[in-house]
Amino acid sequence: MARRSHRLFARWYPKAAESIEDRGLGAQRARLLAGLSGRVLEVGCGHGANFTHYPEAVTDLVAVEPEEALRDLAAARAEELGRKAVVLEGQAEKLSFENDSFDAVVATLVLCSVEDQGRALAEIHRVLKPGGRLVLLEHVASANRNIRALEYLFDVVFWSHVFGGCHTSRDTGANLAAAGFDTSGLEPQRLPFLPYPLKVSPHLAGEARKPA
Ligand SMILES: C[S@@+](CC[C@H](N)C(=O)[O-])C[C@H]1O[C@@H](n2cnc3c(N)ncnc32)[C@H](O)[C@@H]1O
Repeated sequence: MARRSHRLFARWYPKAAESIEDRGLGAQRARLLAGLSGRVLEVGCGHGANFTHYPEAVTDLVAVEPEEALRDLAAARAEELGRKAVVLEGQAEKLSFENDSFDAVVATLVLCSVEDQGRALAEIHRVLKPGGRLVLLEHVASANRNIRALEYLFDVVFWSHVFGGCHTSRDTGANLAAAGFDTSGLEPQRLPFLPYPLKVSPHLAGEARKPA
């Protein structure tokens, strides 16, 4: 599946993200990742902002990222942190890993941007071990139908094109359930430190489990 590259976004994102790490995003990342252990896959790792927060109990860290510039920064960050991580070119929609091969998958601010969310979730489900968890932090569509329609329009005419394929109108919670995940470990969140329009978007944070 050929993916449209977002090179400008890839150059802009690391600086923009770093500017809000200390305002709350870093703390969110640390809380989310604290309980992880074993073999972990991070999809869409960007410039590797999560790497500093993985606990020692994560013995095998593999990350996939489609944008070359971000992949290079992520590999450099892992080296800087002295963390053994394998950073690979890849897309969440077609993961080159065996079935049932990861204890956990991590996706932060990524499921909004994958081109085919249904396929990405099916792939993540496939590579997770039974009982494994998808740990995520994602902004999702408004529960209000009228606002959701506006979000959809906003995505189509503007937002997706300028913000690296991001969508504000995705019902990720429902799509996770449709993909076979137990979503009872996900909680609604507001992340007021994000820029508009994400500042006012509902978010989901926590873990979605593949049933054992
Ligand atoms: C908003 S950034 C988030 C980066 C990082 N996860 C973080 O928390 O800072 C979205 C990321 O998703 C990546 N991405 C976009 N489409 C993807 C796909 N199909 N599969 C995997 N990653 C993808 C982008 O290249 C980018 O790194």
